[in-house]
Amino acid sequence: MIKYKEVKTKDNTFTLKNLEYNECYHSSEGALKETYYKHVSVMKDLADDIDEEEIRILDICFGLGYNTFVSILNRPKHKKLKIFSPELDLELVKSLKNFKYPKEFDKIKNIINEVSKNLYYKDEFVEIEVANVDAREYIKNLENIHFVYQDAFSPKVNKELWTIEYFNDLKKILNQKGVITTYSVATPVRCALYKLGFKLFTHKDDFIRKGSIAAFRDIGYPRVNFEEKLKRIKCYFYED
Ligand SMILES: C[S@@+](CC[C@H](N)C(=O)[O-])C[C@H]1O[C@@H](n2cnc3c(N)ncnc32)[C@H](O)[C@@H]1O
Repeated sequence: MIKYKEVKTKDNTFTLKNLEYNECYHSSEGALKETYYKHVSVMKDLADDIDEEEIRILDICFGLGYNTFVSILNRPKHKKLKIFSPELDLELVKSLKNFKYPKEFDKIKNIINEVSKNLYYKDEFVEIEVANVDAREYIKNLENIHFVYQDAFSPKVNKELWTIEYFNDLKKILNQKGVITTYSVATPVRCALYKLGFKLFTHKDDFIRKGSIAAFRDIGYPRVNFEEKLKRIKCYFYED
């Protein structure tokens, strides 16, 4: 049975629609544009705040690997990247060596091929581990994560990766300077992060529909005044 349909997005880069989840892996605004502005630009911008030489990124979940590959293409100078990424769909990862990625990806074609084949890649500057397991279990064994790219399918079809219990597990593995980036602006998602003690921010750039950014400290991004919002709405969140 056909499980994926190729979709061309507005920035002329390709994504897929997963016909089982009935959702695309990226927004119609642009697969590359969304990846860069929602997740990777934030990592790049805040990289110098990280004292360690190695930046540890948790990419939830690997999918077509855009978040991971664009991070490598934008690796901050003088930093190494270690990327952890769970992904249940092994068939998809195995097929990625033939995916129609943007031209910019040509220079890391060897990395794409190796990750697709072995779910692992390592060189002097970059290490990638794709784990064919449930993200909820995988994250319990991680520590000291600097950036989480929270990029599951929507809560409607992928609720297990948006619950307050799941975000609490993410909180436990985040470095004090850790940051979560996501496309979601949904009230139950922001409520869960707020209730867990995160400060909420949004994106700086107008290139994309803005999402949410969560951190324990001020990071110089526009603050979401959630206290004000809570005077008007009742806080609720997704639960296991
Ligand atoms: C929106 S896509 C991720 C897109 C990806 N970040 C990219 O740049 O291409 C969501 C992915 O999460 C995977 N997934 C959903 N639930 C999962 C779970 N509980 N554990 C691991 N992977 C999961 C799906 O198979 C899908 O590939």
